[in-house]
Amino acid sequence: MTQKPADHGHLKREIGLFDATALGIGAIIGSGIFIVTGIVAGIAGPAMIVSIIIAGVIAVFSAMSIAELGACLPEEGGTYAYAQKLISPFAGFIAGWIWIFSNVFVGAAVSLGFAHYFVALFPPVPVKVVAVAICLIFLIINYLGLKGSILFNNILVMAKILILLFFVAFGLGFLRPGTFTPFAPEGSMGILSGAALIFFAYTGFARVTIMAEEVKDPEKTVPRSIYLALAISTAVYLLVSLVAVGLAGAPALAHSGSPLADAIGMTGSSGAMMVIALGAMIATASVLLTTIMGISRIVFSMARSNDLPGVFGRIHPRFSTPHYAIAVTGACMVAALLLADLTLVVSVSTFAMLLYYLIANIAALRLPREHRRYHQAVPVVGALSCAGLIVFLSPASWIIGCIGLAIGGAGFILRRKSTS
Ligand code: ALA
Repeated sequence: MTQKPADHGHLKREIGLFDATALGIGAIIGSGIFIVTGIVAGIAGPAMIVSIIIAGVIAVFSAMSIAELGACLPEEGGTYAYAQKLISPFAGFIAGWIWIFSNVFVGAAVSLGFAHYFVALFPPVPVKVVAVAICLIFLIINYLGLKGSILFNNILVMAKILILLFFVAFGLGFLRPGTFTPFAPEGSMGILSGAALIFFAYTGFARVTIMAEEVKDPEKTVPRSIYLALAISTAVYLLVSLVAVGLAGAPALAHSGSPLADAIGMTGSSGAMMVIALGAMIATASVLLTTIMGISRIVFSMARSNDLPGVFGRIHPRFSTPHYAIAVTGACMVAALLLADLTLVVSVSTFAMLLYYLIANIAALRLPREHRRYHQAVPVVGALSCAGLIVFLSPASWIIGCIGLAIGGAGFILRRKSTS
């Protein structure tokens, strides 16, 4: 049985198509392209391009399901709300919980990604100090209000796209022959493991659904912005990865903590290297901004439905933001980043996000016929491909992800028992 939501106030509708698309791109393009591509180059070789295409195709199926759900149920909370309505309150809770879990790790990963590039430019500062500082700065920006955050996000998104296009345009003149052979040194296993890890780079495409109550004309704006954000990001990823391999070769990318800066360094231009390092900081910062925004909204939404303590659903009287939700999730993110190892953090986050999309696809399968936009094959392929990709992640990420799931499940049961 669904519980009656407590009245904790409503959020204002101030997000248009441009802002919504920028929110998606803000959440998508970050550590994935700037850092995880290096790890994937080591796993798949130049065939990382194929890994990127496979991950992108899998993302499209889940994006179609989520766009369909977002158009039909434009409510704050994304898959948390859809699964609650279309599957069961428990499935909804798990979707919300696993989303928070995944994004706490995303926040930790991008804060660390930012810090690594920052330290590459300003070596004396410790990585963890920078990571905590950037995380706190963005928590404060989110705390102070949505309008400023949206405008700031748009600026960051434009900057990171322009810098990645600069990488492509500048690097194109310096491509070296022979960098694409051997193309797939680890065969299909390398390509699929690479696809599982680089899926991290696509996560975030559904960010706008988390904030659908704040979107103008959500039935049209939500699906359109999801497709636009995914299409733009995929095009950028393909161009950037082709040029990165063409400049440095996969082995050099694999051995670098800042693969795109090192790739552009092959041109001999230290100025270009600085621009790319700056781009990496801007990109990770903008993912961090939308991640905190998204987490706080999911916590708000879950509190409003009595799945989390009601205090998280309170809106700040002056800034109109769910300030307690921001403060608590921010504290979890800082704790996670202090304990973080980058590759594992990325794998755990991807594991959790694939489960989240799996639940979204199951919810889309249960949409009433009159609300469906696509053939049912779309959510079926979406669910199977998410489940299939999980198999190629590391066992350590399965274990940590399952522990996170178990904690959430136990919390749900205890809360239901104590409130019944
Ligand atoms: N997709 C986001 C990134 O690549 C999480 O940083």
